[in-house]
Amino acid sequence: MTLSDPRAGDHRIERIVFSEEDLSNRIRSLGEEIAAAAPESEEILLIGMLKGSFLFLADLARAIPRPVKLDFMVAASYYAGTVSSGEVTLKYEPDTSLKGRFVVIVEDIIDSGTTLKRLLPVFEAQEPAHLEVCTLLHKRLVTLDPPTRFVGFDAPPAFLVGYGLDYAEQFRNLPYIGVLAIDDE
Ligand code: IMP
Ligand code: MG
Repeated sequence: MTLSDPRAGDHRIERIVFSEEDLSNRIRSLGEEIAAAAPESEEILLIGMLKGSFLFLADLARAIPRPVKLDFMVAASYYAGTVSSGEVTLKYEPDTSLKGRFVVIVEDIIDSGTTLKRLLPVFEAQEPAHLEVCTLLHKRLVTLDPPTRFVGFDAPPAFLVGYGLDYAEQFRNLPYIGVLAIDDE
């Protein structure tokens, strides 16, 4: 039985992997974890990777029982055919200073890890007191260096949509994360 949802138009959802309740419960604890990890002397700066992290960032920011500052970044990856060239550039980078702050890069999902591998050294160069990554989902295909400190859930090896994650720019507004039914291709 697939699920129909007016937000998905004519497409059907094969199954829900993380429900709204799963997401809100886990994000509440992630917020507590981040607040507890950041030394009192360091301001927390969340940097959301657009577009995929927009809902997660909004909920995570409200789950941190401390003052936080927010900024965004937009990265572009270049593809030769269907293969990632490994080249990543920043189309928008945060203009908030990272120096001396507890900086948390907020990602929707870590898949190949290419994007973060390229970008972490760029942020490290700006001398944050701490540089951590918080990803809602991790496919566990790679281990980044340093390892990702805050992970919402391990993700199954499927293509996921919803709660920020898209397929061809659709489905970002689903309030849960699911798998599309196959006859949608
Ligand atoms: P990577 O870790 O550099 O391979 O790139 C991760 C990015 O690819 C994420 O931020 C998503 O935008 C996108 N992505 C990876 N896996 C999925 C998925 O299952 N559904 C939707 N987008 C995905
Ligand atoms: Mg993304």
